[in-house]
Amino acid sequence: MANGPAAVVLCAGKGTRMKSEQAKVLHPLLGRPLCAWPIAAALEAGSHPIVAVVGHQGDAVSAALRAQFGPSGPRLAVQERPLGTADAVRAAAPELRGAAGPVLILYGDTPLLTAATLRRLLDSFRTGGGPLALVSALAPDPSGYGRLVRKGERLVRIVEERDCTERERELHEVNAGVYAADPGFLWTALEGLEPSNAQGEYYLTDLVALAAERGPVSSVSADFEEMRGVNDRADLAACGRVLRQRINHAHLLAGVTLEDPESTLIEAGVEVGADTVIEPGVSLRAGSRVGPGARIGQGAVLVASEVGEGTEVLAYCVLQQSRVGPRCVIGPFARLRPGSELAEGVHLGNFVETKKTRIGRGSKANHLSYLGDAEVGAGVNVGAGTITCNYDGAAKYPTEIGDGAFIGSDTQLVAPVRIGARAYVAAGTTVTEDVPEDALVLSRTKQVVKDGWAKRRRERLKGKR
Ligand code: UD1
Ligand code: CA
Repeated sequence: MANGPAAVVLCAGKGTRMKSEQAKVLHPLLGRPLCAWPIAAALEAGSHPIVAVVGHQGDAVSAALRAQFGPSGPRLAVQERPLGTADAVRAAAPELRGAAGPVLILYGDTPLLTAATLRRLLDSFRTGGGPLALVSALAPDPSGYGRLVRKGERLVRIVEERDCTERERELHEVNAGVYAADPGFLWTALEGLEPSNAQGEYYLTDLVALAAERGPVSSVSADFEEMRGVNDRADLAACGRVLRQRINHAHLLAGVTLEDPESTLIEAGVEVGADTVIEPGVSLRAGSRVGPGARIGQGAVLVASEVGEGTEVLAYCVLQQSRVGPRCVIGPFARLRPGSELAEGVHLGNFVETKKTRIGRGSKANHLSYLGDAEVGAGVNVGAGTITCNYDGAAKYPTEIGDGAFIGSDTQLVAPVRIGARAYVAAGTTVTEDVPEDALVLSRTKQVVKDGWAKRRRERLKGKR
């Protein structure tokens, strides 16, 4: 789709109303920075090229966009100072000279905008015949938005809230901040704008009055919900709720059971296979993939983690940058830290923590264990309370456990150390040296039994009373 309309997305503002050290457009929303949402909508509508205008924390915004979109992402232009939305569009001009078709202009803080609305806007621009088209919405509460001023049907100008008269403030038709402009008109008109308003900024909205002098400015109306701009954190939360519902709805239609969609958080781009059941209160964060026929238990959190087909992750597990194979059973209350890789059919029970550890097919660690920097073979049984002592206060060391080994309960494996295949480690053993294949290792003091000792003690104590 190399011939789509060019698009400019404005991402240079500070976002004062967020009351944040971080630029507004970088605030995360369902696993993406805020400004990635309108850019994704423009991409989906076939826009090319797309120019993101950055300014405040421009390096961080550019880096976030590159991380999000890679080489197919937007070109970057810099607005040196935040002189207003019109000035920001001007900053994109060098990147867009020569673009023939209409230029779409979007704001980086309208995450709910859809590609379908952009397509309707482009149709309206083409049929309208004027130099400019825009998206409007009827706002139940229009405060904070620019108002559309009409003479009869004809759109004549936009007035910003701060510059409204009492009567204009009562207008409920608002500017969504999405435009399609003829490039010839756009680049000339931008040069003629003045910052004569309450904010002393160059307002993009002033283009409307200029365009109206030349021809009809067409508008397409959209749902106000889709137009919501994020100016403060209440807006961010409200948009988050809508995006969450959209994502969850798509998963439901794709055959995923969400027992309580209201409490389920699935971030953008997460893949979930059909017939998977997601219990209440689950978070599937960006970069996660869950195979078909799996079950994710109540309160579980997956961060950039994969869960294979038919695997059950029981309640309150936390998985970070980990991969769990098919038909495993994990938890409840298991914690898989980064670099945990489980083969098929592995069982990890309650209060088991793993880190940078590979566990082979069918192995089990069912209770209260820590496995860090370990390579565990297939068919291994790790008893309750087994700890890999992988850290000596300065460096980390590996533990290897061979196929079919049996690790008794309450065992410490002091790394670096190797347990050979099929070896037995007796309960309560502290392993400090390598154990050969098929061996038994035990290290504990010999048991002492004193017959009748407890009875004698009871009688002694009774005599003292
Ligand atoms: C803007 C519109 C308003 C519309 C509303 C819709 C103007 C003057 N007003 O108001 O009519 O109803 O959006 O949400 O356009 N930005 C820059 N550089 C700047 C200033 C802003 O890149 O110098 C970017 C911001 O990062 C933001 C976007 O432009 O993503 C909009 O700016 P913002 O200050 O939020 O405009 P609003 O007051 O919401
Ligand atoms: Ca805004």
